[in-house]
Amino acid sequence: MVPSLQSLHTFALPAQSKSLCVIDDVAQLERLDYSQPYYVLGEGSNTVFIGDYDGLVIKMATKGVVISKQDDFIEVIAQAGENWHSLVSSLLKQGIPGLENLALIPGTVGAAPVQNIGAYGVEICRFVHQVRGFNLDTLKFINLSNADCQFHYRDSVFKHALKGRFIITEVTLRLSTAWRATLSYGPLQQLPKDVSAQVVFDEVIKIRQSKLPDPSQLPNAGSFFKNPMVGKLDAEQLLQRFPDMPIFPVDEQRVKLAAGWLIDNAGLKGTHVGAIRVYEKQALVLVNAGQGCGEELKQLIVAIQHKVNMMYGVVLEHEVRLIDCAGECQLQVGGND
Ligand code: FAD
Ligand code: EPU
Repeated sequence: MVPSLQSLHTFALPAQSKSLCVIDDVAQLERLDYSQPYYVLGEGSNTVFIGDYDGLVIKMATKGVVISKQDDFIEVIAQAGENWHSLVSSLLKQGIPGLENLALIPGTVGAAPVQNIGAYGVEICRFVHQVRGFNLDTLKFINLSNADCQFHYRDSVFKHALKGRFIITEVTLRLSTAWRATLSYGPLQQLPKDVSAQVVFDEVIKIRQSKLPDPSQLPNAGSFFKNPMVGKLDAEQLLQRFPDMPIFPVDEQRVKLAAGWLIDNAGLKGTHVGAIRVYEKQALVLVNAGQGCGEELKQLIVAIQHKVNMMYGVVLEHEVRLIDCAGECQLQVGGND
């Protein structure tokens, strides 16, 4: 029987793959045939299958967490198939804080370093000590250090030099025993400085639930586009035209714009192509309201990119990985397209 992918990705478009292999023991990775097209999948919360995939889907489902206390930090070694939020929540229950700002991010531990998951002023790169995985060029398991991973905003070596060449099997995190709350982002600034990690965890969950749809109720893939980085001068020119536009400083030269604001301010909330629409409570999220298909999603992505490019001269790059019959594809309007 041909495997259905609809329940294996949170956008829930109907799609099939040629074959599917669920990995619950890393030794299985040494026996797979990598001469065929393949795609490594966690919980599919940052992947949308926009058509049938003509290859093997390798679903990472290995489990296990080992925690050890060192002098200045707690070391957590988690297997790739562990659910990220369950890990965050279980550590907190055991009195181990640090990851609370990253609560309720869907997906697996193994996928978390790929786009360097981040929320509410914290990115996972702050805690990653080592990433272990299966190198598909050498067919050997190797360890990568934090520096090897080349983490940046929503970016890492796993999207570049190691793209499609490295299957993450295990992530080692180090959580400092000298914990302090990170309250720099937006609504968290209202909390008192001596707040507990549990309160931050609860607050992050409350904020997220108020604006992000639960994929089990309304299929979606979180933020669909990355927040674009632009030069300071470009941002200043935009601010003259749009004084309310939020900006987030990155470094001396660059600022980050809020893609959600750009889309919202362009009047696109609620815009739809068939069953796929821009979510009313958060314009950066696209939702599949029922019987959506890949073609509708592609049309909506391009329409949003086109409008944002025309209105602000900004190129929106989709954060979500789009997979069609031949593998990953990139849709872009503006820039070098
Ligand atoms: P998948 O979608 O299965 O895979 C994502 C990518 O990683 C793919 O390219 C895949 O090939 C690769 N990959 C997966 N597993 C492995 C592995 N073991 N080895 C090598 N490559 C692998 N992200 C944030 O950063 N911050 C947020 O706040 C956030 N909020 C979200 C809210 C919602 C409602 C949703 C649906 C998504 C959100 N996301 C957020 C995006 C998503 O949760 C993360 O990208 C998450 O890390 C994806 O995990 P996954 O297991 O579902 O990955
Ligand atoms: N905004 C609007 N209208 C909207 C949406 C946003 O005006 O419809 C404005 C907000 O008012 C705010 C700014 O845009 O001033 C930023 O919005 P928000 O704080 O909701 O964050 P975001 O930039 O939309 C990013 C991440 C999220 C992460 C949150 C919290 C990206 C692409 N997205 O969203 O990550 O949870 O910050 O840190 O960086 C994901 O990657 O899937 C994801 C959900």
